[in-house]
Amino acid sequence: MNFASDNIVGASAQVLQAIVQSNGGALPAYGNDEITKRVKAQFSAIFERDVSVFLVTTGTAANALALASAVPPWGLCICHQEAHVIDDECGAPEFFMHGAKLVGLPGVGGKLTAGTVSAYVRGLPKAVKQMPPKALSISQVTECGMVYGLDEIAALSQTCREHGLFLHMDGARFANALVSLGCTPAEMTWKQGVDILSFGGTKNGCLMAEAIVVFNPALAEALDYRAKRAGQIISKGRLIAAQFEGYFADDHWYANARHANRMATLLSEGLAAVPGVRLAWPTEANEVFPIVPKLVDQAFKAAGLQYLGWTEASLAEDERVGSDEALIRLVVSFATAEEEVRQLVDIARSAVSRQAAE
Ligand SMILES: Cc1ncc(COP(=O)(O)O)c(C=O)c1O
Repeated sequence: MNFASDNIVGASAQVLQAIVQSNGGALPAYGNDEITKRVKAQFSAIFERDVSVFLVTTGTAANALALASAVPPWGLCICHQEAHVIDDECGAPEFFMHGAKLVGLPGVGGKLTAGTVSAYVRGLPKAVKQMPPKALSISQVTECGMVYGLDEIAALSQTCREHGLFLHMDGARFANALVSLGCTPAEMTWKQGVDILSFGGTKNGCLMAEAIVVFNPALAEALDYRAKRAGQIISKGRLIAAQFEGYFADDHWYANARHANRMATLLSEGLAAVPGVRLAWPTEANEVFPIVPKLVDQAFKAAGLQYLGWTEASLAEDERVGSDEALIRLVVSFATAEEEVRQLVDIARSAVSRQAAE
């Protein structure tokens, strides 16, 4: 069984079917086709306002290009110290920002607070030798599986306005956050002041489809040129757009995310009921971060389970991982079966009861 990430499974049948349906015949290349136009209009309908949309193939491309349009080469972009943009993209955002720097700040559960951002910005010397802060990037869902509430996004956005920063949201798991909060896409983004969004599709059912959704028109100006220079104006663009058509049809994206989040809740509740297991952070989307006795970690490995160990950097101050414990990350997806979740919990339970019996 594989709980390493939500991209270890293929695309959903509905998305694949949409690709096949869009495959026949000749259509204009480079996104000038009818399917791409329809999908762009669909994004505006979903977000309840006109938005500029740029379809790309990876989350890294979406983040790097979005940040490059928000931050000049002499600027700083603030993010959480464990953010994907600073930790897992091989410097792509900094490469595309042409000299601008990412600055990682701490925060429990991968979340930044308005207070932390504000204190950091206020503490920066105001001199020409100091790179000025120009943007804040937040991950929704965070790298620790937590979801920013609407009030938290609004507070961060307020801080951004006070200090002249653009607000970027890395929504690689946008749908999982959305169904977790039970709000609309508009409420989770521009209504709270988000300027630009990396909208993920791949982790929740697409083959390879992400979108940069721009709410602040100033940030859309040169994005098509930036995308071309990054090799992200896709020649058979209709097949990227087709994925989103399949993804949005019949609220498939909501259904996929609801399933994944439900599997995570089951997994989380099942594991938390095993003696000696506790959660590093609350399970709010499709990722579970249990702190397990080492013998459970060993039992998982012996059973051939695939998953990652995780860093303690974003634990609450009074929380520690003991020397006989391991902090691990378990990710579920639209394709995870309830039976797999049950089996995983059973392995943990059996390992603990075997030890108690010894
Ligand atoms: C928070 C976050 N942002 C962005 C991405 C997208 O990365 P990729 O370039 O692998 O599509 C990921 C994927 O792991 C992620 O977890």
